[in-house]
Amino acid sequence: MNIPILDLKRQYNMLKKELEPAVADCMASGVYVMGENVAEFEKEAAAYIGVKNAVATGSGTDALVISLRACGVKEGDEVITTPFTFFATAEAIAAVGAVPVFADILEDSLDIDPEKLEAKITPKTKAVLPVHIFGYPADMDAVNAVAKAHGLYVIEDACQAMGSGYKGRKSGALSDMGCFSFFPTKNLSCFGDGGLITTDNDDFAVICRAMRAHAGGKNGAEAYALMGGKKDDSIKEVDSGALYNPYKYYNYFIAYNSRLDALQAVILRIKLKYLDGFNAKRAANAAFFNSRLDRNKFKLPVPSGDVTPCWHQYVIRTERKEDFIAYLSQKGVGTAAYYPVPMHLQKAFMGLGYKKGDMPIAEKACSQTVALPVFPELTEEELHYIADTVNKF
Ligand SMILES: Cc1ncc(COP(=O)(O)O)c(C=O)c1O
Repeated sequence: MNIPILDLKRQYNMLKKELEPAVADCMASGVYVMGENVAEFEKEAAAYIGVKNAVATGSGTDALVISLRACGVKEGDEVITTPFTFFATAEAIAAVGAVPVFADILEDSLDIDPEKLEAKITPKTKAVLPVHIFGYPADMDAVNAVAKAHGLYVIEDACQAMGSGYKGRKSGALSDMGCFSFFPTKNLSCFGDGGLITTDNDDFAVICRAMRAHAGGKNGAEAYALMGGKKDDSIKEVDSGALYNPYKYYNYFIAYNSRLDALQAVILRIKLKYLDGFNAKRAANAAFFNSRLDRNKFKLPVPSGDVTPCWHQYVIRTERKEDFIAYLSQKGVGTAAYYPVPMHLQKAFMGLGYKKGDMPIAEKACSQTVALPVFPELTEEELHYIADTVNKF
């Protein structure tokens, strides 16, 4: 048997009849970037997550960068995050000129440890960026309490967590802002890059909308004023044919081109309807593994009553990570070694001065964690084969 860590073609084949005519309609419409489908997707995603505003972006990385800037994070500020994540989390902090500060994780959830986070706060700290790693929400009540006590913004990196929940609310609705990725491997995914910012803060939403599109037009002017720029009341909308139109080809600050393509929005709108069903399948697969895999050989994910993971990854731990991956590969079971190197030991962050041993729990996790296939379309036969093969290691 040959079971990949993820097979995107199975989901495509299942939804093909619905996806292909919708994509064809979009191509025939002549609207390819933003437009009605993006606006409708934003409304549907906001309703799904339970927030007032959703702003689509070109990627999850851009969603993080734009959210950080919307919260006013700038050069010289510090943002505390986890060392056990995908590079983009810390990269986004550095991309806005701020310093990523790492706080070690909790042994069971693999998410940031709120106590360690608090210990890292300095007068320069501006925001906290917890990550719901593998779709397992961080302890947001504790994170928010620490942040509130110190006047910090909280941005959730929910890039892996579409559809996961914490105490009855959805990830992305648990703090000031949430950031999602629709990269093809994600639980809700498009056929390319895509991202989303969620927030109940209307001002942040205005700023994010401006920032994803060059901070131009009326939205750019509003965002500029909200960010402390001088509001120019003399600006009046003029005839679109006029030579000088303060809202046309007029840009208010340096921003980004990070719009979502209409085609991606069409795909996301269809797939969003199936997301809960797909996540339920993932949860059933994870429950099967949790009941079947040998706890004497492996440390399995630890469910907590407060969280409903979306099982973006099903990750188990072994002290023989390399041997285990090689063994499963030989038996035809795909794996992923998320994540082999913690952020504080990445070449790109050498300059921050961390060394081996600084984040012992994250470092140990990196040496032990192996993701198994958990995607919704796995068959019964495949699930049994994976469990039996893993147990025979
Ligand atoms: C935790 C995390 N943060 C950020 C990102 C970046 O998202 P994207 O690849 O859409 O830029 C990803 C996904 O790749 C991720 O897993």
